[in-house]
Amino acid sequence: MTRYKEPKYRTILEAKENELEILKEKSVNSQWKPAYHIHPQFGLINDPNGLAYFNGEFHVFYQWYPFDATHGMKHWAHVKSDNLVNWERLPVALVPVEDYESHGAYSGASLEVDGKLYMYYTGNIKYSAEERSANQCLAIMDRDGTITKYENNPLIEGVPEGYTGHVRDPKVFEKDGTYYMLLGAQKTDLTGAIIVYESENAIDWSFKGELNMNLEFPESVYMLECPDYFELDGKDVLVFSPQGLQPEGHFYHNVYNVIYVLGKLDIEGLDFKVESYEEIDNGFDFYAPQTFAGKNGERLLFAWAGSGEVEYPSDKEDWAHCLSIPRQLGIAGGKLVQKPAEELRLLRKDSESGELMLDAGSKEIENSANQYELEMYLDGGEAGRFGLELFASETEGLLIEFDSKHQTVSVNRENFDAAFGGEYGFVRSASLNSGTVKIQVFVDRSIAEVFINDGEAVFTARVFPGEGSTGIRLFSDGKISCRYNKYELAQ
Ligand code: FRU
Repeated sequence: MTRYKEPKYRTILEAKENELEILKEKSVNSQWKPAYHIHPQFGLINDPNGLAYFNGEFHVFYQWYPFDATHGMKHWAHVKSDNLVNWERLPVALVPVEDYESHGAYSGASLEVDGKLYMYYTGNIKYSAEERSANQCLAIMDRDGTITKYENNPLIEGVPEGYTGHVRDPKVFEKDGTYYMLLGAQKTDLTGAIIVYESENAIDWSFKGELNMNLEFPESVYMLECPDYFELDGKDVLVFSPQGLQPEGHFYHNVYNVIYVLGKLDIEGLDFKVESYEEIDNGFDFYAPQTFAGKNGERLLFAWAGSGEVEYPSDKEDWAHCLSIPRQLGIAGGKLVQKPAEELRLLRKDSESGELMLDAGSKEIENSANQYELEMYLDGGEAGRFGLELFASETEGLLIEFDSKHQTVSVNRENFDAAFGGEYGFVRSASLNSGTVKIQVFVDRSIAEVFINDGEAVFTARVFPGEGSTGIRLFSDGKISCRYNKYELAQ
């Protein structure tokens, strides 16, 4: 079959003279480019890929379309770091020039095998705007950092019977001497599934079957993307990104959402016994997360701090999205919780601490740049509603509001000149168990990551404030007291 042609399916090697320099120039002065979050110089990024602590360094790869803020020919971009916060940009890791990846090097994960980093990914193939297929491919990074595509790619050609061309995002792990590959898939009846391949040598794969989960997905779920699997504190954890969930109470308000499942995996028996599941992040811009083992085996996560189908204000500057900060995962109270990775402390520069009392009204905390970490303990025992406004000015502000009567917290990003994404609502919320609250927020020019009570609820929110909107304002309709530490953050 002939392959589909559209201008957005070209690689960086086909850039016109000066095209990349012009793109770089156009967005270099953007006030919204994050300072310490992994972001593109230009073009659009999405899922983190191939995450690894390998040979003494952290490697982050991610989906990248170079030419503007649309989803086109995806490359794997590459940054590395020895401390998880100072990142060095490296040459593009995967440029999709081969026939088996003619419409992009799609997402995947990595695994260290025989001292080398095996990077599994999906070669995306399009026959028309709607018709597609997928190949599962391999690239290998040596200890000296050289990346080579496997000479006998693809490892798996096409999709198994019973599935549409939507089969992608390999996650490979080893258990009792056998390698397993999980893939996100769509069945021919247009429902979502996770399918499993197995291998003795991490190269030759055979189809094993579909993973059963005692989880009833609503019929509206038509695809599962980006499966991840790991063990944590004696539990098996599956993370994936279902498409087609409908909003339900506090949950699933984004176009696509991410859930984790805790329970017990019997991979030989293709069975996952689900004990509990929930949406991972309560915010607006969080998708396709991937986890990996850090220096001391701790479980770290990066996510795409973005959302499909939504237009972002930076699109006009021909760049879009960033990754989340690295987060460390744990299990507490039967839930998967996320905390900022310890290494983020390395970014802390000048600090300021204080205490504030408020009896209805509002008070400001001095702040002049949107690049900080704020840690705050709030006791709003007698107040009904209280909270914080970030990126605040006369007319703008991101509202984080607690309602102690209903024990909920909400985040509202409606009040910005460059408000966006309203078609999916401007407010996200979660329920809480405790009266005193700890808030830890990482603010970086156009993103806030809000951790409530050490991960009881987490909200990722992109916002695009005007130049002067840097205020931090505490507000309450009753008596509250708070203690806070604020740190300027810089690399
Ligand atoms: C998730 C996703 C993956 C795919 C990649 C393409 O955001 O759709 O399923 O591999 O993005 O960029």
